[in-house]
Amino acid sequence: MAKLGHTVTGIDVDTRKIDSLAAGEAPFHEPGFTELLRSSLASGRLAFSANMADAAGHDVHFLCVGTPQAPGSPAADLRYVHAAIGALTPFLAGPDPTVVAGKSTVPVGTARALADTLRPTSPNVTLVWNPEFLREGFAVQDTLQPDRIVYGLGDGETARGGADALDRVYAHALSQGTPKIETDYETAELVKVSANSFLALKISFINGVARVCDAAGANVADLARAIGLDDRIGKKFLRSGIGFGGGCLPKDLRAFSARATELGADGLADLLDQVDRINLSQRAWVVSLVTHGVGPDLAGVPIGVLGAAFKPETDDIRDSPALAVATALATRGAAVRIYDPAAGRVLPTDEPGITVANSVESAVRDARAVLVLTEWDEFVPLDPTDLADLTTGRLIIDGRGALDPARWRDAGWDYRGLGTR
Ligand code: UGA
Repeated sequence: MAKLGHTVTGIDVDTRKIDSLAAGEAPFHEPGFTELLRSSLASGRLAFSANMADAAGHDVHFLCVGTPQAPGSPAADLRYVHAAIGALTPFLAGPDPTVVAGKSTVPVGTARALADTLRPTSPNVTLVWNPEFLREGFAVQDTLQPDRIVYGLGDGETARGGADALDRVYAHALSQGTPKIETDYETAELVKVSANSFLALKISFINGVARVCDAAGANVADLARAIGLDDRIGKKFLRSGIGFGGGCLPKDLRAFSARATELGADGLADLLDQVDRINLSQRAWVVSLVTHGVGPDLAGVPIGVLGAAFKPETDDIRDSPALAVATALATRGAAVRIYDPAAGRVLPTDEPGITVANSVESAVRDARAVLVLTEWDEFVPLDPTDLADLTTGRLIIDGRGALDPARWRDAGWDYRGLGTR
């Protein structure tokens, strides 16, 4: 927003993050973000604060807090949304028209309830629900050049004013022809969870087909390429492997299922639950490939794991399939050594059976099996002959379909993919 010319104050209750951002240091790995942060700080249009009073006086307040899975339930935990709105409300009572734009992913019905809560105390505030579609690893690009903009608007007379205010915020993207959809609160909320659930569905579909390919002796990578050439299907999100993770797809799928059940849409809830089940079963499949290759007793067996983040170009390990597999192997007694180029520094160092390595070589040294679980670019060209000099076993499990099977087999490795040959 600052890059686009707006004057922005970023507020968070986490003072460590605020201090880091104010000093021009990104508290996470995101390509292109540090440069953008520093140039925006230098422009004088971007500041950070842990004091909500510093939010006062702005025309638009973006609500971007997390909505993780609630403890012990598939539903979304809205406590941060309510806390942020509660903390902001005292600064919204003035006579000037103000817009609150909700970016957080919330269960359908949340925005209308929030608008009802805001109305008596803050009559000059307009709430717009404005879901966010950025991907980690592409956050800068997705923010500056979004592929669509959605406004969920309330019923009152001020709704138009809210849309107009956001049009001014997004003037640059709109002038470039970015499609905009204006709708009601409920549809805007559902657009977001439907988009993420559909992406999850595509991945679990191809992973389900990967099982059939494996049993039938077919190749899921060729199959995905072939069906993806049909425009109606599309080639994206058909990469089979150990499945989806991260802070969004898994919890949005579960929260959508929980809300669909509440609203009586059992058919959709069943479908979403099955998507989740297939996804989790991919992790168990990888573990079974390891025991098939090195034997059922993993006690003390050294295993090298390459990748911990839920996908490349991020250091995010929330609900990471790679980390889940590493932990499952360690739970069975294996001596797991794990290397990730970005997530290594955020991995817990006290996990029994897991050692964090600082290079590919130290992760795979003496290993009986090597697993590629996040498809970082640096793993793709690894030389199978060089690696074979370091390991004691020759089992390579390609959990992301990232490697060239022929190259590894030619070098004497037992290459195993998930539905690839
Ligand atoms: C996802 C959505 O893609 C964004 O549009 C959305 O804004 C964001 O969630 C959010 O709700 O905030 P993200 O969590 O960054 O973005 O990750 P994705 O790129 O969607 O990948 C999710 C998982 O699917 C990763 O673990 C990835 O490895 C896996 N994946 C992706 C596959 O297993 N196969 C594929 O073909 C594609």
